[in-house]
Amino acid sequence: MKLTLAVAALAAAFAPALAQAQFAKADDAVEYRQSALFLLGNHFGRIGAVVKGDAPFNKDDVARNAELVATLSKLPWPAFEGGQTNGKSKAKPEVFSDKAKFKEAADKMETAVAKLNTVAKGGDLASIKTAFGEAAQTCKSCHDNFRAK
Ligand code: HEC
Repeated sequence: MKLTLAVAALAAAFAPALAQAQFAKADDAVEYRQSALFLLGNHFGRIGAVVKGDAPFNKDDVARNAELVATLSKLPWPAFEGGQTNGKSKAKPEVFSDKAKFKEAADKMETAVAKLNTVAKGGDLASIKTAFGEAAQTCKSCHDNFRAK
């Protein structure tokens, strides 16, 4: 039973067609994507603290956070696809009018954090720093274009 649920949850996370327009209310869609991005930012930030030297390097912690970031990176996007938004959302109108460019930016980030995840398993701090920097650039570039200040 547990396994069936896990498989169903995975299917929902990885099948955009299935996950699309799954939100009854706009408020739910906004809360879902903001929550996913909040968690993503939190775990990404923990790696960032190590990269900047503000936190000690523990390779198992970094690998665990990178794994979570890779998983979380897949979650926000279906909650934008239905075009639902509200006054609390920081999503610019371009998110919904230029879907192809938004998706391209999301894909770039997913690729970069997947690479960070692979590199983090290797445990080499110099390589982690490089991969983290490349991933952070993909966050910034999408925020510059698609997130209101
Ligand atoms: C494809 C575009 C895109 C990419 C890539 C992206 N973001 Fe965002 N991010 C957004 C948008 C749009 C919002 C505003 C969502 C809203 O308020 O509806 C946002 C909001 C956030 C928030 C605020 C969440 C909250 O509490 O409301 C955080 C934190 C965040 N992003 C972190 C990141 C990090 C870290 C990365 C890179 C690993 C990243 N984002 C990559 C588009 C993106």
